[in-house]
Amino acid sequence: MKGKLLYEGKAKKLYATDDAEVVLVEYKDDATAFNGEKKGTITGKGEMNNAITTLLFTLLAKEGVENHFIEKINPREQLCRKVEIVPVEVIVRNKAAGSMAKRLGLEEGTELKTTVFEISYKNDDLGDPLINDHHAVAIGLTTFEELKAIYNMAAKVNEVLSAFFLKIGITLIDFKLEFGRASDGRLLLADEISPDTCRFWDAATGKKLDKDRFRRDLGSVEDAYHEVLSRMENAGE
Ligand code: C5P
Repeated sequence: MKGKLLYEGKAKKLYATDDAEVVLVEYKDDATAFNGEKKGTITGKGEMNNAITTLLFTLLAKEGVENHFIEKINPREQLCRKVEIVPVEVIVRNKAAGSMAKRLGLEEGTELKTTVFEISYKNDDLGDPLINDHHAVAIGLTTFEELKAIYNMAAKVNEVLSAFFLKIGITLIDFKLEFGRASDGRLLLADEISPDTCRFWDAATGKKLDKDRFRRDLGSVEDAYHEVLSRMENAGE
């Protein structure tokens, strides 16, 4: 079943399976930040992110967002459809935080008059630089047509997830998505959606329930991930 290691990323390992169209994704406890400059381990993160991504990709599929997730096969591993990753990271922001707050001199949590969509070139050597649509098309990462489909899917993901998290008392501040091309040409949402890739703030207290606790040494990192997962499980999703 679990074939050869195809790729090892910062938080996941990807293995081949007997089926050429299917990959096995193993979620690791390793955590990195600032493009790999800060390294650590978050105990139980692999299992929690596998569980959180499973619940969210299942919810998104139900809401019509086609994605690569097939099934969770054990606490740390899931099967996904094999895709060619579009080398563009899409960031969706509902409130200013992180790099956008810093770059534009805004206080974190500042309300935005519109949802902000950013793209960056997925390239570790360059530190995933922020680019615009024209850069992405000019250097051959994607096409305007594919980008249009990507933005439409990202907006739908934001709609579904913002409403879901609101119900469990969490404000979805921002998040990062990746997309892939399946062998049949379909564009699928890929990668993961977890506290590693989203900013989650408790709606009542503003407490950070995501990887910023690791990035900024705020403590109680595992507890925050666990809090998100248990609220999701109690919501019955
Ligand atoms: O750091 P920045 O503010 O640009 O991050 C925006 C959102 O995208 C955050 O939720 C962060 O966790 C996520 N992100 C990510 N992977 C990256 C860059 C950002 O998951 N390489």
